[in-house]
Amino acid sequence: MEFPSPTKTWHNASYPAISPSNTALSVKGKTIFITGGGAGIGLAIAYAFAAAGTSTVAISGRTEKTLLSAKNGIESAHEGVTVLPFVADVTDQKAVDAAFASGGKVDILVHIAGYLPRLVPISQSRLQDWWSGFETNAKGSFIVTQAFLRVAASDATLLENDNRHGPLASFASLFGLPGFKDCRTQVI
Ligand SMILES: NC(=O)c1ccc[n+]([C@@H]2O[C@H](COP(=O)([O-])OP(=O)(O)OC[C@H]3O[C@@H](n4cnc5c(N)ncnc54)[C@H](OP(=O)(O)O)[C@@H]3O)[C@@H](O)[C@H]2O)c1
Repeated sequence: MEFPSPTKTWHNASYPAISPSNTALSVKGKTIFITGGGAGIGLAIAYAFAAAGTSTVAISGRTEKTLLSAKNGIESAHEGVTVLPFVADVTDQKAVDAAFASGGKVDILVHIAGYLPRLVPISQSRLQDWWSGFETNAKGSFIVTQAFLRVAASDATLLENDNRHGPLASFASLFGLPGFKDCRTQVI
């Protein structure tokens, strides 16, 4: 079955208008902080910012080995880029605060670290697994946003993934985020 595309054209690779090598999109001189930047989508974003000219990318996650491997890979591929790895669970306020406080101003925050509980019916769902979604997605977003605001540059940008679209109870924690994001937009 063909995946239904919401747009006329489907891209599987970047094209000139959104390419990191497009000089109009340069982030030269900007400091980037990516939660969940050691693997998956966050790591791909870290590579893209390195290609777009940043000299400093901070990445955070819970696993030091993953972060160090990402650091080696990005710095080998992009001369002049320094990757700062921070071991910090987004649900651990002390660790997140310390990570953000250890550098200078942050121009762009990409908050990707998230958790999708197992996609099973409620009858088979484990409370702790289901609650981990709330801890990581809702509490984590609050902690990361608060730490970021203390060091955000005056024209800073915050980018987040938005994976709340789904029919299952496992997605419940993600539905709390739009409310938090709306409040944040109005208050900041
Ligand atoms: N892949 C997709 O197709 C897709 C689509 C839509 C949305 N999403 C969402 O996008 C996010 C990233 O997806 P992904 O596929 O890149 O996942 P992934 O490969 O599992 O990467 C997640 C990253 O976040 C970090 N992380 C997870 N929990 C964390 C926590 N509590 N504190 C700090 N860091 C944490 C992980 O590092 P450690 O494990 O070392 O902490 C890892 O670096 C997830 O929330 C996912 O639900 C994914």
